[in-house]
Amino acid sequence: MVLFGATKTKKVRPVKRLIGSVQMPGDKSISHRYAMLGAIAEGPSEIHFFASSADCQSTLDCLKSLGVAIERRDNVVTIQGAGLAGLKPPKESLDAGNSGSTMRMLAGILAGQPFRTVIGGDASLSRRPMQRVIDPLTQMGARIKSAAAGLPPLEIEGGALRPIRYELPVASAQVKSAVLLAGLYAEGETTVVEPVATRDHTEIALEQMGADTGRHHRTIAVRGPARLQGMKVYVPGDISSAAFFLVAGLLVPESNLVIRNVGLNPTRTAILDVLAAMGGRVKVLNVEMLNGELLGDLHVEPGSLKGGEISRDLVPGLIDELPVLSVLGTQTEQGLTFHGAAELRVKESDRIAVVAANLRRMGAEVEEFPDGLRVAGPSGDGKLRGAEIDTQGDHRIAMAFAVAGLVAEGTTVIRDSGCVDVSFPEFFGTLERVAE
Ligand code: S3P
Repeated sequence: MVLFGATKTKKVRPVKRLIGSVQMPGDKSISHRYAMLGAIAEGPSEIHFFASSADCQSTLDCLKSLGVAIERRDNVVTIQGAGLAGLKPPKESLDAGNSGSTMRMLAGILAGQPFRTVIGGDASLSRRPMQRVIDPLTQMGARIKSAAAGLPPLEIEGGALRPIRYELPVASAQVKSAVLLAGLYAEGETTVVEPVATRDHTEIALEQMGADTGRHHRTIAVRGPARLQGMKVYVPGDISSAAFFLVAGLLVPESNLVIRNVGLNPTRTAILDVLAAMGGRVKVLNVEMLNGELLGDLHVEPGSLKGGEISRDLVPGLIDELPVLSVLGTQTEQGLTFHGAAELRVKESDRIAVVAANLRRMGAEVEEFPDGLRVAGPSGDGKLRGAEIDTQGDHRIAMAFAVAGLVAEGTTVIRDSGCVDVSFPEFFGTLERVAE
């Protein structure tokens, strides 16, 4: 049984099986992009299955403060596009909440505005690096002030931008998107070159909305000033949320679970490749394409898993799934190792340190590297032990350790569990529904 405690603390106990079918919230990354692009497009956009995540609500709230007319009815968001030049100076500072995507990607649009905007966020976001967007946007002509060491809040004084060719020093879809969004405002061709391919939802949405874009391998170009056309779109389920149910379905002994309508964009499916390589029984069914994005159902059943080392080139495509994969690692024959994930240290928490500390609390053997982890496979009776989990307010830590609690001995207490709202407010309810 999964037990429920007070709002802030959830207790999780082992379950026999996860049975049935579940629907994930709309993809967070795609929802942010449709909202931002819909806001500067011409005509209305209707976004169906918009993410229920608090992060995406932060994006909508920031856009409203910039004068965009937005209506939300459950998971349908209607945006009256203001056009490329239609945003208004906000009366107050914008609040990106916990959302790095909101701050970094919106910075690209704000760089193109003929007014000054301040954008800040919560304590976690205020510790996250912004120099990575300040550098290229400054090269394009925006004037950006930050707190010391390139930290939020950002004060962005936009204006006429010039196109640049920018080689990304870090693999980041948020930074790539910020430059491309600014490129919509610059006269001429803005080009971004990625060190490795990252999620390409911005490129796809720009193509769908009629921007003049081009792509060749890891080089992406956009021509400004752009005219985007608002449209009716459907957001696929979030594969990064599905990751928790995939891992749970693989680990909980008698499970038989279908996760419906999951986004299967190839830049997001490295998790499926890694699980398949370990012998995980995950089947992909009913694949279709909607608005340029692939989606389908995932059927998962438990079985023994090999574990092993995740190759570095897969890491950028798995970055949000590494906490729950680390939990999975404790239940694999060889354990799990990965390197090349230093970026995890500057997410909503230092996810390398926080995963290591919590896994150790549950009795797992973990080695921490500057850029990764080695998690040993089962020792003794092979069981994790229930423990009190310090989530550090990080949604993916809370959900990863709730999954750990499903296969641990005794009770796992997830402190500050309300943080799951950041990406997946329905997480505990969905889990409760399929747990027996
Ligand atoms: C995201 C990109 C990734 C990811 C984040 C969402 C996006 O961040 O971790 O959750 O929507 O573009 P980086 O761009 O920092 O790699």
